[in-house]
Amino acid sequence: MKVKTEKPGYSDGGVLAYFLLKEDKIPVEVLKVTGGISEDEFDRKLGKTYFTATLGKMKFGKLLLVGLGEKKDFEPDFVRRAAGTAVRYCKSVKCPNLSVVVPKALPKIDSTSVVQFITEGAILSNYKFMELKTKKEEYFDVKQTSLITPDKSAANGVRVGTILAEAQNYVRELDEYPANMMTPRKITEIAKQLAKKNKKFSITVFDEKTLKKEEMNAFLGVASGSNEPPRLVILEYNRNKKNLPLYGLVGKGITFDSGGISLKPSKDMHEMKYDKSGALVVLGTAMAVAELNLPVRLMVALALTENMPSGKAQKPGDVVKAYGGKTIEVLTTDAEGRLVLADTLAYIAEKNPKAIIDVATLTGAVIVALGRHAIGLFSTDDKFARLLEEAGNRSHERVWRFPLWKEYSEMLKSEIADIKNISDTGEAGSIIGAVFLKEFVGDATWAHLDIAGVANIKTNHAYLEKNAASGMGVRLITEALIYLAKRRTGYSMTNIFLE
Ligand code: BES
Ligand code: ZN
Ligand code: ZN
Repeated sequence: MKVKTEKPGYSDGGVLAYFLLKEDKIPVEVLKVTGGISEDEFDRKLGKTYFTATLGKMKFGKLLLVGLGEKKDFEPDFVRRAAGTAVRYCKSVKCPNLSVVVPKALPKIDSTSVVQFITEGAILSNYKFMELKTKKEEYFDVKQTSLITPDKSAANGVRVGTILAEAQNYVRELDEYPANMMTPRKITEIAKQLAKKNKKFSITVFDEKTLKKEEMNAFLGVASGSNEPPRLVILEYNRNKKNLPLYGLVGKGITFDSGGISLKPSKDMHEMKYDKSGALVVLGTAMAVAELNLPVRLMVALALTENMPSGKAQKPGDVVKAYGGKTIEVLTTDAEGRLVLADTLAYIAEKNPKAIIDVATLTGAVIVALGRHAIGLFSTDDKFARLLEEAGNRSHERVWRFPLWKEYSEMLKSEIADIKNISDTGEAGSIIGAVFLKEFVGDATWAHLDIAGVANIKTNHAYLEKNAASGMGVRLITEALIYLAKRRTGYSMTNIFLE
């Protein structure tokens, strides 16, 4: 979908949409068509719509009103949701052109952000994974959304919103492919294609041989049960611009997590194709950062392997020596994400980045704790955590912070090795996963994002597809990097646009 801005007076004859708070007056042009609208016809609750043909009284063929609810309850994300509602309406009436009158003076949000968020909601809600269907015509696509506003700076909001939403859709698409198609080698090829498109990228790929040479044995232990060879992809952005601040992004890329010898139950095991979400999220973030041309350096690591049982698979009780020399007792082969991340984080930490963010579908326990409305945040740095909280609120990819007290680390002491990969009790599962990772980041500023609850959508959503990959994390991390790139003081995330 193409999103663009247009001045007042524009028309393409398609659907014209207004987003209205309960307190807003009905615009005169709408009154001309409808005469007036009673509360019964349209109560303006969030997501409620009013639709009518314009019968030649307007240059547009159809008129759509979308409710934003009462002013006191308004949240900035409602703008994305209203855009999602409008796009879905256009699909239902098979209209390829949508125009939205950009609402003015909404509470808690500046005008450029309104435009950015409408753009995101429109592009995200228009996307559906159809690649594996042979009959494409079942799906109706909205071709363009025009945002009608007199504001000249709106184009910048469209640009940022488009880059973010398309990067998120890129992740949704790749994540949806099943494990027989989206293997570690396939993702490596995709990362190479991305690197080829933008000259600011360079790429290094570790195959099994290199992983052995680098003594990344925790990673190799996980990979040992699979017939698909593992890959560690290191994608660098602005590699030679040494004056720019370096940030490390690390993603868990288990293309299928069967649990290994500690096999998972078969019910819903197919959902473990989404265990590569973290790696794809950091890849999508790299794409967005490059398109925004952010003045930062990035080192992005994708830890890619399957976790499978076989005669060659690692076994519960095995001990492996990780990159950097720490020994790990592997008490369950299903806590494999932390094993591949251990080697990868230790490798990235060595490069001395200003901060590292790792992204992983690490624990089922985070879903028990937070359900599906928040990303688990774990960080040793209060300021960095605050920044991610702000970025989470702005992007509505919200995070919730957990503690990393040393009492938790003590639960991972092993009798025979330096550390074990699970605790004896199974309590505080997400924190235990995080404190395990903490052992491998040295003294780097670091944050771990556990996205197990949000990587795929399980319930109805205003702008993301149900029962599909969400691509969540891309907008959160990119917004945080935009902020870091601008080196703003204070914590306000508003008005973070590049000139
Ligand atoms: N990939 C899973 C975590 C997961 C579970 C993601 C459900 C999404 C939905 C991870 O590798 C795993 O198996 N974790 C174990 C850890 C446990 C053995 C300590 C878990 O959560 O059960
Ligand atoms: Zn697992
Ligand atoms: Zn896993």
